[in-house]
Amino acid sequence: MSPREIKPGVYWIGVNDRTTDLFEGLWPISQEGVSYNSYLVMGEKKAVIDLAKSSTADEYFSQLEEITDISQIDYVVVNHMEPDHSGLLRTFRRLAPRAVILGSAKTQEMLSGFFSIEDRVRAVADGETLPLGQQSLRFFSTPFVHWPETIMTYETSQRILFSCDGFGGYGTISGGIYDDECGHLGFYEREALRYYSNIVANYSSRVLDALAKLAAIPIDIVAPSHGLIWRRDPQCIIQLYKKWAEYASNKREPGITLVYGSMYGHTEKMMNAVAQGISQTGIPLEIFDAARTHVSYILPSLWSKEAVMIGAPTYEVKLFPPVADVLEMAVDKRIQGRKAAYFGSYGWSGGALKELKKIIEPAKWELWGDFVFRGSPTREDLRRGEEFGKNFAKFIQKSD
Ligand code: FEO
Repeated sequence: MSPREIKPGVYWIGVNDRTTDLFEGLWPISQEGVSYNSYLVMGEKKAVIDLAKSSTADEYFSQLEEITDISQIDYVVVNHMEPDHSGLLRTFRRLAPRAVILGSAKTQEMLSGFFSIEDRVRAVADGETLPLGQQSLRFFSTPFVHWPETIMTYETSQRILFSCDGFGGYGTISGGIYDDECGHLGFYEREALRYYSNIVANYSSRVLDALAKLAAIPIDIVAPSHGLIWRRDPQCIIQLYKKWAEYASNKREPGITLVYGSMYGHTEKMMNAVAQGISQTGIPLEIFDAARTHVSYILPSLWSKEAVMIGAPTYEVKLFPPVADVLEMAVDKRIQGRKAAYFGSYGWSGGALKELKKIIEPAKWELWGDFVFRGSPTREDLRRGEEFGKNFAKFIQKSD
């Protein structure tokens, strides 16, 4: 891609990553990809804000060279140390030997551990302003959005917020870099929620702290380091992040996520009956086969919906492992206080329900009811399963 001037003297230097299969070595992005957005502010002094992953070096530096002599850059602002943004730092150092690295005090510590870099590093204070000539940068401490060292940088003359992970999402840039150049915003909003639930959700209270702090400044452009730049409607992504962060403690959408697994189709047969019952109420329902769907794609639904229907057989006196894995990840991601119900098949002893209770207990999920059956469900079992689904859905609607 080519650099784009997003405001006079401010450039987007972005690279698409379409070859990394797992973001953070964990979250699938083979289909969606991701972008690493870096920015260059060209005042009398020149500053780069965030870099990119090390594998993008050739493309990244050739873009930067199109705009400026890299050796003459004065500052590189490290909003966030995670190597998808800082991976090019050592190479950048060689190309821009006089540039001073700016970041939080915590960044200064971490630079030594990650890159053995200790010289020409300066910690900036929360609220500190750095004049660059016509432009100036102001730094805001926003810890844990996404790591403890994280800051956001604000260009004061043109009201641009460089927010790094905050307000970011998966998904490569498809030509247009702005919200107003994009005809499929739904894709970016969906991938921002997946990113939020996978990467940021654990720190939702810190996101709300950051939003409260940023509420005091006028923002014309939100320029994150992943995904689209929001200039037509910067509040769109800000309000989405606020809504998602509030799901950690406030009410969620009145919908049901149905997570199930099935060994020989018996629990799946029951799942269809339960889903039929739920659907009769008109409540939104999303269904995931835990053995065939990466948890990355299930977390957004679990994060944003109030209730969970769990379908899983007993497997070796325990909960069917793919379903147990999804629930354990949900608990790790602090998906708390959900209303839940369980159904599943057993062969001889049962045991799934006992383990399910153990898994969800630390997250304080309320188990509304359970429905187990032996082997293959009979016609009567299926009728009762349909009723079970309908009654759970009505319970969710009533408690909304
Ligand atoms: Fe985009 Fe937390 O790294």
